[in-house]
Amino acid sequence: NLPFIFLLQLSHVVGAAKRPTVCFRRGLQTVTLIPGDGIGPEISVAVMKIFEAAKNMPFWEERNVTAIQGPGGRWMIPPDCKESMDRTLIGLKGPLKTPIAAGHPSMNLLLRKTFDLYANVRPCVSIEGYKTPYTDVDLVTIRENTEGEYSGIEHIIVDGVVQSIKLITEDASRRIAEYAFEYARNNQRNSVTAVHKANIMRMSDGLFLRKCREVAENFKDIKFTEMYLDTVCLNMVQDPTQFDVLVMPNLYGDILSDLCAGLIGGLGVTPSGNIGANGVAIFESVHGTAPDIAGLDMANPTALLLSAVMMLRHMGMHDYGKKIETACFDTIRDKKVLTGDLGGKSKCSEFTEDICRRVRDMD
Ligand code: IPM
Ligand code: MN
Repeated sequence: NLPFIFLLQLSHVVGAAKRPTVCFRRGLQTVTLIPGDGIGPEISVAVMKIFEAAKNMPFWEERNVTAIQGPGGRWMIPPDCKESMDRTLIGLKGPLKTPIAAGHPSMNLLLRKTFDLYANVRPCVSIEGYKTPYTDVDLVTIRENTEGEYSGIEHIIVDGVVQSIKLITEDASRRIAEYAFEYARNNQRNSVTAVHKANIMRMSDGLFLRKCREVAENFKDIKFTEMYLDTVCLNMVQDPTQFDVLVMPNLYGDILSDLCAGLIGGLGVTPSGNIGANGVAIFESVHGTAPDIAGLDMANPTALLLSAVMMLRHMGMHDYGKKIETACFDTIRDKKVLTGDLGGKSKCSEFTEDICRRVRDMD
C-alpha cells in the first residue's frame, strides 16, 4: 500500500497549493508577535523597545504558539494565532522549542506549512567590527521551504528498514526559482546560483534544476549558474565573495544557510524571513531557545532585530528599517556595549538601550 500512502500525502500537498489566498492590505500596521520559548520573550521585549525608540510602533498582537491537537489527532497551531496571522499577514517570531524525534512536530515548520510560506530568505552580510575569518561576505540563500526532504513522508517498510521520500514538484520548484530571480532583480543583485545534486538525484533535483533553467530564460539581466552542493560548500569556505543569490531545495538550504551564517558570526546575528504569496510572511530568529541563559538578561537580540528590519522592508517601511539597522550595526562596531556571545560583558537590556539611544539620536 506504499503508492497509496504516497498518493494520500501528495493530494494533501496539492490541496494546500490550491488553497485560496488572502489579500495583502497595505499600510496596515498590526504585526503578530510570537515571542517563543526560552530567551524568546526577552529578545522580543528588546525588539519592541527599539521599535518604540524609532517612534514606529506597529501594533503588536502577541500570540503564544504551543502544539495542540485537532480532530483526528492532527497537530495544529493555536486557532487564536492562526486567526491573528490571517488578519495581519505579517508575523515576527522568536525561537520555539522542538522535542527531538518524539511528541509534537516542530512548530517552526508547522507555521511555515500552515501559511504556505514557500520561500526562506537569509541574507548573510559581514558585520563591520564583528571579526570572523571572513570579510566582505554579501550573499543571500533562498531555500524552498515547503517540500523536498522536509515533506515528512516516512514509512517503516519492514522492521529495520525505513524510507523517507523527498518530494519535489514542478510548481514548487518553479515558484521558488521565480522568487529567487525576482529577489535578485528587486535587490540589485547580479547573479543566481542553483544549488543541486542532479548528478545523483537525477529525477528530483533534475526537475528542480530544469525549472531554474527555464525561469532563468525570463531573467536575462541576471547571470545564472548551476553548481553541485558539495562544490558550493568547498568554494564557499574558500571564498564566499564569489556568491550572490543562491537558490536550492529545502534541506540543502537548511544546511547551507547555517554554513553561511557561520561565515558572518553565527545564528545570533543572522536574520531570516519566510515569505508566502500575497504578502504573507513570518520573520524569525533561527537560533535556538538557549534555555541555559533564559531569563538571565544575557541573550543577544540581534538576529530577531535584524529579522524585524527585514520585516519593515517587506512592509515598505525602508526608512525605519535603515534607521534601526544602522543603530544596531553602530552599537556592534563601537564594541563598548556587547552581549557575551559578541565578546562583551553587557546585559541584553544594556545592549538594547545602547541601540535605542542611537535610534533616538538620529531624529
Ligand atoms: C531553521 C531551523 C528549522 C529547520 C528547525 C527549527 C525545524 O533549523 O529554520 O533552519 O530545520 O528548518
Ligand atoms: Mn536550520
